[in-house]
Amino acid sequence: MKVVIAQSYAEMSRIAADVIVRLVNEKPDCVLGLATGSTPLGMYAELVRAQARAALDFSCVTTFNLDEYRNIPTDHEQSYRRYMERNLFEPLGLDPARTNLPDCTNPDGEAACAAYERAIAQAGGIDLQVLGIGHNGHIGFNEPASEFTDRTHVVTLSPSTICANSRLFASPDDVPRQACTMGIGTIMGARRILLLASGVDKAAIVVKALRGPVMPQVPASVLQYHRDVVVVLDEEAASCL
Ligand code: GLP
Repeated sequence: MKVVIAQSYAEMSRIAADVIVRLVNEKPDCVLGLATGSTPLGMYAELVRAQARAALDFSCVTTFNLDEYRNIPTDHEQSYRRYMERNLFEPLGLDPARTNLPDCTNPDGEAACAAYERAIAQAGGIDLQVLGIGHNGHIGFNEPASEFTDRTHVVTLSPSTICANSRLFASPDDVPRQACTMGIGTIMGARRILLLASGVDKAAIVVKALRGPVMPQVPASVLQYHRDVVVVLDEEAASCL
């Protein structure tokens, strides 16, 4: 595991974007796993700037997002599809056919999850998976549990995640209660992982994830077992390391 400590959120975002730019330049038809949340926003803005100055051509990249709420209209402003369209897909002019999120309008959630796994496999697997980390150590929506999850599945969100994500909704009652998320097995199947964390509120969970025992109660700790992980932290998130 390679840990890079940036001086600021802006520098963290530039370093992380550079990892992606280098991959896309080496392998223009790569498969990227993407994340939502506040943390990768600066990195996405850097990617948009890189393409604007012709340092990057995203047109052959295929993307798979980690997760999506269930039973939320895809055009809802807080759906993860809309987040991705606003912050990356539309500014980069990506062909929507190359951008994938779990289909959370399918009433059969497990069928939607199985279809997502098949699509990832058909695309040749994920070359690089971007991750943020929840305050409780969740990655994607894999919440602390008694076992690590395997493939993409339907999950009921924990009260702490509903509370954290309610900042983006009118009220906590409006936050969807369920999501489809790649499983830990799906994430660990990516050939490379890029984990980002920013802010002093992530410092305690970053230490547990990177230096603590590997256990499903801290889902991100499993990354210690992956052979190619780059962690980019700002100084605040790294302040307990
Ligand atoms: C959400 C997402 C995760 C994200 C995490 C942290 O619940 N499902 O993919 O990494 O929360 O979000 P943030 O970057 O806003 O702290």
